Amino acid sequence: MSLLEVRDLKVSYGGIHALKGIDLDIAQGELVALIGSNGAGKTTALKALAGLLPGTGQVHYAGQSLHNLPAHQRVRAGLALVPEGRGVFARMSVEENLHMGAYCRDDKAAIVQDLALVYTLFPRLAERRAQLAGTLSGGEQQMVAMGRAMMSRPRLLMLDEPSMGLAPMMVEKIFTTIREISAQGVSILLVEQNAKLALEVASRGYVLEGGKITLSDGADCLLGSDAVQRAYLGA
Ligand SMILES: Nc1ncnc2c1ncn2[C@@H]1O[C@H](COP(=O)(O)OP(=O)(O)O)[C@@H](O)[C@H]1O
Ligand SMILES: [Mg+2]
Repeated sequence: MSLLEVRDLKVSYGGIHALKGIDLDIAQGELVALIGSNGAGKTTALKALAGLLPGTGQVHYAGQSLHNLPAHQRVRAGLALVPEGRGVFARMSVEENLHMGAYCRDDKAAIVQDLALVYTLFPRLAERRAQLAGTLSGGEQQMVAMGRAMMSRPRLLMLDEPSMGLAPMMVEKIFTTIREISAQGVSILLVEQNAKLALEVASRGYVLEGGKITLSDGADCLLGSDAVQRAYLGA
C-alpha cells in the first residue's frame, strides 16, 4: 500500500499553470526521486504536498485525504519538508533551530532523545550546537534544515534540492546521510536538478517537465534511458 498517493495534482500561480495534473506514489520506506530542470514545477509540487500552496486533485497520505489539512497538521502527521535554500533561522543557534522542528510536539523526553539522534546523524552539528545558524557554511545549514525536519519524527521526508550550491565533499556527506535516514525506514521524496545523484540513491524516479510527469520508472532504468541521458545527464 502507498504511504503517499497523489492523483491529478494541479497548482496555478494566478494564470500560470505550474503543475498540470501529476500522479505520484510513494510506498512505505521507499526513496523516490523527482527530477526535472529549473522551472519544471518540482518546488511547487513539494510545497503543495506540504500544505504551503493550494492545489486541486487528490492527495492521500497514510490512507487519509490531506484535503484542506493545514501545513502544521501535515507536519504533525509525519510529513516534513526540507525547503529549497534550507530556510534556517539565521539568528538562532543550531540547537534552537533543531528545537523549532519539534514545535508541534509536547513529548519532552522523546524530543531529547530525537535531538541526540540528530546529533548522531550529524556530528558536526553537535560540535556547533551553540553557534548561530547564519554563520554556518551552506552544507552545515543543509544539515540544520534536515536535522530540524527529523525533529518532527517524519514518516515521509521531502527534500528540495539538498545538493544545490554545495561543494562535492559536502554533497557526498549529505547524500550519505540521506541513505542513513532511508535505512531507518523513513520514506523519502527527493527533488533534485542533479538527476544522476538523485537516481543513484533512489529506487524509483519521476521526470517532471513543464508541470507534467513525462517518465517514471526504476531509478536504474531512468539512469540508462536515452531521454534522461540526453536531457539531464549531458550525454
Ligand atoms: N510565486 C510564484 N509566482 C508565479 N510563478 C511562480 C511562482 N513560483 C514558481 N512559479 C513558476 O512556476 C513554475 C514552476 O516553478 P518551481 O516549482 O519553482 O520549479 P522548480 O522547483 O522545478 O525549479 C515556473 O514556471 C516558475 O516560474
Ligand atoms: Mg525548485
